[in-house]
Amino acid sequence: MAISREHWGSRLGFTMAAAGSAIGLGNLWKFPYITWHNNGGAFVLIYLVCIAAVGLPIMMAEILIGRRTQKSPVGAMKAAVGPAWGWVGAWGVLAGFVILGYYTVVAGWTLSYFAKCLGWTFNGFPADVELGSMFTGFVANGSLQIVLSAIFSLATMGVIYFGVGHGIERVTRILMPALFAILLLLLVSALTMSGAGEALAFIFEPRFAHMRWAGVLEALGHAFFTLSLGMGAMITYGSYMSRRDSVVTSSLTVVILDTLIALFATVIMFSVIFSVPGMREQVSKSTAGMLFITMPKLFYTVVPMGNVLAPLFYVLVAFAALTSTISLLEVIVSYFIDERGVGRVKATTLCGLATFVLTVFCALSLGSSSTLSGFEWIRGKGGLFATLDHIASNWQLPTGGFFITLAAGWFMTRKSTEAELADESAPGWFRYGAWRFFIRYIAPLAVASIIAAVIFFHADFS
Ligand code: PHE
Repeated sequence: MAISREHWGSRLGFTMAAAGSAIGLGNLWKFPYITWHNNGGAFVLIYLVCIAAVGLPIMMAEILIGRRTQKSPVGAMKAAVGPAWGWVGAWGVLAGFVILGYYTVVAGWTLSYFAKCLGWTFNGFPADVELGSMFTGFVANGSLQIVLSAIFSLATMGVIYFGVGHGIERVTRILMPALFAILLLLLVSALTMSGAGEALAFIFEPRFAHMRWAGVLEALGHAFFTLSLGMGAMITYGSYMSRRDSVVTSSLTVVILDTLIALFATVIMFSVIFSVPGMREQVSKSTAGMLFITMPKLFYTVVPMGNVLAPLFYVLVAFAALTSTISLLEVIVSYFIDERGVGRVKATTLCGLATFVLTVFCALSLGSSSTLSGFEWIRGKGGLFATLDHIASNWQLPTGGFFITLAAGWFMTRKSTEAELADESAPGWFRYGAWRFFIRYIAPLAVASIIAAVIFFHADFS
């Protein structure tokens, strides 16, 4: 039975919405600090290889599965391959739930730093402010954390209520270009700082000696996370895509924009760290707070018109986060709408509330509750927040992505995938055979061997 399905309003609409999902806290908050943890160079290089060799082909696979089946992940996997594959979609719904749980907390931080910046803009930026301790004190304030993430959850649910074209597309179209412009300006300013050269060397000079397999898995996992892959977000968005658009062109655009923004953000923050005396010590109080510790200093002491731009920046980061949280919630909600026949409003309310419960626990695991903050199941990842982040991006997304490669490369017919990728909208340079080789061999082998290496060797390169 043909059910009429909502679609994006325009060609740019899909690309913008997909870019909105991909570009978010993964680029601005997470990538810089995990690059710091993993000692730069080699980690960045492996990450870039994962993006190109694993991320891009899987991005195309997810979008094509969505567009072909016109269904959300569970239904899409069943329709594309067979009834048994529904659980790959369900695994993605679970990952969405876990990610949304802690992601909302970080998104809440942007609201508070927006307010803080407004204060600094009007009352002056105190020269001796200890941004590192300020951050750790802030996240340990449990009730404030819950309020901030509640506001953010409500905003996400609000957009999801209105549905795809009206909500998601409208928000993304305006704000993504603004974010890009402001990052360019920040990049130019940061590059004039004294430590910029050291920052560039740290990020781009590969030093493999201290790289561990766990770091390789983290680079792979982050490639999935930052591109919103492995859990069906791109399947869902692809299902709202019409046949006029090119899966190949959209995928490539999203991957390039996402990668540039992550690299820009990293160069910007590391330039601050290497230039400002005492900044390294402040960041070391909580590397996960890097985005909130380095940027105010840059805005209020280096960037021209930084006074005005600082609050605007955190607003744009908040919107970048919102265009990602809506894609996460949309995966969960569309499952209940498409597979369980629940209405959109009811599904949004129930799924939104359920994830918020998890968010509350995460919000309390940054110092305010010692039980939630203290345990260490995974070495170096103390507390619920860090544990969930580790499980979702390093394990759930790569394993989900692995099965998506198998579905698209081995179980769907060549005819059906070729019909989606190599149609008249495909760009001239695109070779279907190359994609097929990557999705059948390179991507699944890379994911499987990195996971196997971590499990069996857990060894160092050195
Ligand atoms: N890609 C988003 C980011 O980088 C996070 C995300 C992951 C969104 C998975 C959807 C699905 O911030």
